[in-house]
Amino acid sequence: MPSSVMSTSSRGGVPQPPAAVSAVGLRKSYGDKTVLDGIDLHIPAGSVFALLGPNGAGKTTAVKILSTLISSDGGQAQVGGHDIATAPQSVRAAIGVTGQFSAVDGLITGEENMLLMADLHHLSRSEGRRVTAELLERFDLVDAAKKPAQSYSGGMKRRLDIAMTLVGSPRIIFLDEPTTGLDPRSRHTMWGIIRELVSDGVTVLLTTQYLEEADELADRIAVLNNGRIAAHGTADELKRLVPGGHVRLRFTDPAAYRTAATVLRQVTRDDEALALQIASGGSQRELRSVLERLDSAGIEADELTVHTPDLDDVFFALTGDTGLPHQTGRTSRTSQTQEDVR
Ligand SMILES: Nc1ncnc2c1ncn2[C@@H]1O[C@H](COP(=O)(O)OP(=O)(O)O)[C@@H](O)[C@H]1O
Ligand SMILES: [Mg+2]
Repeated sequence: MPSSVMSTSSRGGVPQPPAAVSAVGLRKSYGDKTVLDGIDLHIPAGSVFALLGPNGAGKTTAVKILSTLISSDGGQAQVGGHDIATAPQSVRAAIGVTGQFSAVDGLITGEENMLLMADLHHLSRSEGRRVTAELLERFDLVDAAKKPAQSYSGGMKRRLDIAMTLVGSPRIIFLDEPTTGLDPRSRHTMWGIIRELVSDGVTVLLTTQYLEEADELADRIAVLNNGRIAAHGTADELKRLVPGGHVRLRFTDPAAYRTAATVLRQVTRDDEALALQIASGGSQRELRSVLERLDSAGIEADELTVHTPDLDDVFFALTGDTGLPHQTGRTSRTSQTQEDVR
């Protein structure tokens, strides 16, 4: 394992659950450009795994190698128990892939796209019709089913794309940037679809540029940077890699602010905003101790907020530059909520 890897998982002798996808030392170069520089992955069956990285990080390349669309220059991988190099046909039979760029044919209808997939999977005519009807219903595409797919919105095309992937009932699904370019409402719909897949026991490997998306969906996250996995673990494990958790107290009464600053030890003062910042992991015990000290001095803060580091902080700490769209900001989260109620 390269020394730059910050492992947060309990490897080293501890048995790991059976993997739906496992890879060791995957490498890929184009000319003298190294795109993947030794990637290790272990994705337990039935889990969601997010490969998180900015544009050009190598996410699509990794998905293409694991789905046998291109070959690697080095390393090994098993998908669904089959070796990608020696048993690519078995790998293809076990997986469904929704690429970064749509596989939908715009000139034919959504229903025809689905029936075409059913044909490709050698379903009988009646079985093909049954599965198509069921998936169109499930993905809320019944009204649009008879219209040419090029008339669909981005969100509808993505839903059709995933519905097409599910025709063959794959147990392992690769979703390459499933929500890039979608509006907030469609993104939330897509998250619901992905959660539903997982509750059916499907294993999902998704790639994303959005920290918030990885945080929302993934059991485990690998941060891909410069062709290497810079860190991996659960969202919480990754967040613990960086300091930055704190409690912030804001006052309107300057006298209360000054008293609080003296009764609470080790605070960072913001005299202009009348706000105090206390380093804290945000646990109940730590919060109680802060509140008790304020109580015993007879002071009440006008506002108390707990800040835990988010994946944005993690990516910044690992790479020195996020290079990622700022999807996680609290303001953008608020605006999404507003969008959703409309
Ligand atoms: N067929 C190719 N030939 C040359 N360079 C490629 C090819 N495919 C990808 N690359 C390069 O590999 C890097 C990673 O690409 P990609 O895997 O598509 O990244 P991501 O999906 O994370 O945006 C990029 O710099 C890209 O230009
Ligand atoms: Mg890509």
